[in-house]
Amino acid sequence: TYIVIDNCIKCKYMDCVEVCPVDCFYEGDNMLVIHPDECIDCGVCEPECPAEAIKPDTEPGLDSWLKINTEYADKWPNITIKRDAPDDAKEFDGKPNKFEQYFS
Ligand code: SF4
Ligand code: F3S
Repeated sequence: TYIVIDNCIKCKYMDCVEVCPVDCFYEGDNMLVIHPDECIDCGVCEPECPAEAIKPDTEPGLDSWLKINTEYADKWPNITIKRDAPDDAKEFDGKPNKFEQYFS
């Protein structure tokens, strides 16, 4: 499966939702997650994210993010249509500690 990781937080560009063939993105206030059981591993979303926040879960060190995607995909609503990114999305691109400060 592919998963969304911390740099999505407060960037939330939403380009990913437009390309997913199975509509498996779920929306929190500040980030999206992928439902790992619904993702068909097609990989088309990964290069679409301007924040490089989508990764295959086979990359080392992403266990905690796989857990977060699994947990919150069940809690947050499905999103299939891209809206405008936050006005300050660029300011948050690459900022450290976004999970601790802004995860929601
Ligand atoms: Fe959707 Fe494909 Fe990305 Fe999985 S890898 S979330 S199926 S676009
Ligand atoms: Fe987040 Fe990238 Fe999608 S910033 S909303 S994973 S396009």
